[in-house]
Order: sequence, then C-alpha cells, then structure tokens
Amino acid sequence: MARILITSAIPYINGIKHLGNLIGSQLPADLYARYQRGRGNEVMFLCATDEHGTPAELAAAKAGKPVAEYCAEMHGVQADIARRFGLSFDHFGRSSSPQNHRLTQHFAGKLAENGLIREVSEKQVYSKADGRFLPDRYIEGTCPNCGYEKARGDQCENCTKQLDPTDLIDPRSAISGSTDLEVRETKHLYLCQSQMKDQLDAWIDSKKDWPVLTTSIAKKWLHDGDGLQDRGITRDLDWGIPVRKGDEDWPGMEGKVFYVWFDAPIEYIACGAEWAEAKGKTDADWERWWRTDKGADDVRYVQFMGKDNVPFHTLSFPATILGSREPWKMVDHLKSFNYLNYDGGQFSTSQGRGVFMDQALDILPADYWRWWLLSHAPESSDAEFTWENFQASVNKDLADVLGNFVSRITKFCRSKFGEEVPAGGAWGGTREEALIAELTRRIRAYEAHMEAMEVRKSAQELRAIWVAGNEYLQNAAPWTLFKTDPEQAAAQVRLGLNLIRLYAVLSAPFIPESAAKMMAAMHCTDWSWPGDVTEALGTLAPGHAFTVPEVLFAKITDEQREEWQARFSGQRS
Ligand code: 2FM
Ligand code: ZN
Repeated sequence: MARILITSAIPYINGIKHLGNLIGSQLPADLYARYQRGRGNEVMFLCATDEHGTPAELAAAKAGKPVAEYCAEMHGVQADIARRFGLSFDHFGRSSSPQNHRLTQHFAGKLAENGLIREVSEKQVYSKADGRFLPDRYIEGTCPNCGYEKARGDQCENCTKQLDPTDLIDPRSAISGSTDLEVRETKHLYLCQSQMKDQLDAWIDSKKDWPVLTTSIAKKWLHDGDGLQDRGITRDLDWGIPVRKGDEDWPGMEGKVFYVWFDAPIEYIACGAEWAEAKGKTDADWERWWRTDKGADDVRYVQFMGKDNVPFHTLSFPATILGSREPWKMVDHLKSFNYLNYDGGQFSTSQGRGVFMDQALDILPADYWRWWLLSHAPESSDAEFTWENFQASVNKDLADVLGNFVSRITKFCRSKFGEEVPAGGAWGGTREEALIAELTRRIRAYEAHMEAMEVRKSAQELRAIWVAGNEYLQNAAPWTLFKTDPEQAAAQVRLGLNLIRLYAVLSAPFIPESAAKMMAAMHCTDWSWPGDVTEALGTLAPGHAFTVPEVLFAKITDEQREEWQARFSGQRS
C-alpha cells in the first residue's frame, strides 16, 4: 500500500470561491485523492483557509466585523461549501491556527539560526492617529495622474496607474481618514533566497517528471533579470502571526507579523498537526506524513495549484524548508493549472464575475459541475466556461451516456426478470469478449492517466468506458433477444447490471454522489477496484436484489440555460 500526501493550494478567506478557483486546485486534488483511496492506498488530503494579509483585514472591515470573527465565520462557510462539493479533505484547517503560529515561528527561528534572514531598514508611512504603519493599500489620496480622489497607495482604481503612497496628493489613512501621516524608518525581515539559488536550481533539476508549466515558471524566476531576489517576510499589520524566533521575542520586530505568503504554505504542515488534534491522534501520527526522520521517507507528496501560485511553491516555500536544515517532507510532484475563463472574460472575485461555488450548488448538484470542470480542466492552456458547452456536456455525457445506460438496463430487468440479477444463460460469446478486451484496455489507460494526473485524458477515457457499455447494450439488444432466447438475454442483463457497479467504482473520483447512488441501487458495498475485468463483472451474482434508481442526471433545458446565462451575466451583488 502506497502512502500519498496531497495538498491543495489553500483558498483565501475573503469570500466564496468561484468555479475557476475550484478547478485550479481543490477539485483536481480531490479527484486524485479519491482515486488513490479507491486503489486502496493510504491518503492524507489536506487543505485550509488562507486567513492572513491585507485582503482579509479589508474584507472584515467591509463586513463590519473584527477580523478574527470574520475569519472564523468564513472558514465555516467555506468548509460547508467544500463538503457540499464533495471535497474529501481529511482535514480543512486554518492558517490562523495555534499550530501554524508555532510552526511558522519555529521556521523563522531556524532560518535565522542558519543565517538566512537579514534585517532591512525601510521607510514607510506611519499613521499617528491609528498608531500603526500603513500598508500601501491602506493609504488613500488623490491620483496624480487622473485626479481620482479615492486612489489607493498601490494603484489607482480609476486609471489603473501603479502608484507609490508618496505619489498621492493629500494622502490619508484608509482606516481612520486621518491625514496626520509621516514617513518613518522601520525594520523588516528578508528571507535570503538568493543564497539558496544553486540549491533550489539543483532541486528543481532533479524533478524530471514535473510538467513544463511548473518548471518553466520556476526557472524564469531563478534566472531572468537579476535572478532570485530576497523576499520580505514581515508586514506591519495587526492580524497575522506575530514575528518571533521560535519561542523567543525578536528584538525590533515588536508589533509586526509574518507576511501571509510566508505562513500560508507552512500551514500545509500545520494542518497535519490540526488533523491529529481534531482526530485525537498523537504527534507521531502526523509526523509520519511530514518528517522524513519519522516515517515520511516513503510518502509521495503531491501539490495542486493554479499557475500564479507556482513561484511560491517551487522557490519560496522550498527555500523555507531547505533553509531550516530539518528533515521535512518536500513536494515530489507539483501539478499546476492554467486559468478557467468565464464566457468571454475572466472569472473575478473582486468584480463578482462568473459563477461562485454557492451559486453553482443552488442550481445543480455538485456532480454536474465536477464533471464539466474536470473534463475541461485548464491543463495545457487556459480553458473557457460557456453555458452552451456546459449544457451539451452534461446532457450528452452524463444524461445520454451514463444515466441512460443505468436507467435502461435496470428498467428492462425489472420488467422482464424482476428486481434481482437474473440467473440463466452464460455470457462469453465474441460480443462479450470484445467488450471485456476493450474495457480492460481502457481501464488500464484510465489508471495510467489518473496516476499521471492527466485530468482531461482521464475524463475522456472514463467517458469512453461508459460509451463501450452503452454500445454493447445497443448491439446486444436483450429486449429483442428476449423474445427468442430469454436465457441469453438474461446473461446480457446480468452483465449490464454488473457494469453499473463497475461504473460506480470507476466514476466515483469524478462524480462521487452519483456513484454512491448507483452502488446503492445495486444494493452493494463492494467498492473494490477492478483488476481482472471478467472477475469484476461477476460480482453481483444471480438472485442479488437491486432497485431501479431515480433519474441520475436530468437534462439541462434550453430555457434553463438561457435563464442562467442571463442571471450570471452581470456582477454578483
Ligand atoms: O492563491 C491563493 O488562493 C492563495 N491563498 C494560495 C496559497 S497556497 C499556499 F501557499 F498555502
Ligand atoms: Zn488615476
């Protein structure tokens, strides 16, 4: 039994994620986790909310809530939606957990001990009224370029010009509105990534099987321009993990917190510790996943993320781990995705453009979305969601092919043989032989694509497996044969009912809810993965009872499609 550690990029806490976020990391990670569990492997699948940073503070302020309260609430909301989407995390943690506080401070301490952190003096805007330094986007003023009066210190929203806070005319604090601002000298910590350039380069070179999308992004950051730059890892914010050196204070760093991108990936590890606490386990239980000196040396660790996250995962986070000189488990395979666009533009959280996870579930069950998103995953290039394509794909693949197969065979059996697997006859003619040969070939290909995390190819193969069963049934036509050779028709129906179970097993990673319905209709709990296909198709013996299931997939009508198209054409309110 292999042991597989899987993490999905942890979603920002501020707001509900859209479908582009979902297919960029959490959903393909879930597909892989479910597949590996289905193969009988031991899986640890971790995800969490990414709760620190300015966006979290701003979102809380907008919601009129203390930031800790806002985060706790939004974590609950996101956890609930993830569950309803069938995301099968072993634990959905929080980057603000005590475990992550401890571990982040621990890593910072180790990095300092190893000479990989330097202090840098910087000039930054201080607000006396607020008693704090202000991040660029917390300073407002008039844009020197277009005169817009509510330009932010990092950018003017009106004319999109990139700004420095000192460019603003009449600058004021976005928190209190105070104009009593001054530029003060302040110290920040920098992670000396540049010192680790060669080590990181060699580490990336050792990853021969990584997708080009992943390595090319990493290499660009390592070699373009002046090469890998040291990175500031502290911020002047209230909300975050206080800067400490392990258990000790860090003189001169009072009131500062770590930068959100420093603590977020550390949460992958801390999440393991949260899992152990939540499940009443010991430290040894999570460390056997994360410490190579405590059993994790035989773990295969796979990360899933969108392409914008790749630099942090191929450079900054590995720099943190390597720089600690401690035996933490590092990523073995990093699967990254391009973007999913929405109907001729981009999905956008800030502009409320596209379909968001909660809205998606309001109109259709999770499996419809899971199937479309996974079978159109933006792997080799960006992909686009259109309602026409969604409708066509759901109606053809799910309703016409899979749903129709299940409904046809169960209903026919009920009408001619009753609600149990019919006895009589024997299958094994050339038609069945050809079907089994095709299924065997396709199932092995499906396994290979799933192992390689080729999401689209896996979906295509699965669909072809459904089609093969449909074609078999169409050609064998037991409803016609029944009149002349009921024994042979019974054997074909027995095969068809067993195919439903087989399809449930194979399809569960993509459409878990529907797979569970199919299995329940077959009154079966045997989820064992098919090795020998002939054997797998003999699981349900003659006399085994079943129930005709409710319609598995309803077709999307043109009226529905048009209504949704109109409803989701504007901005989310
Ligand atoms: O892009 C994002 O949604 C980030 N919150 C991902 C963080 S992944 C990791 F580093 F934890
Ligand atoms: Zn402007």
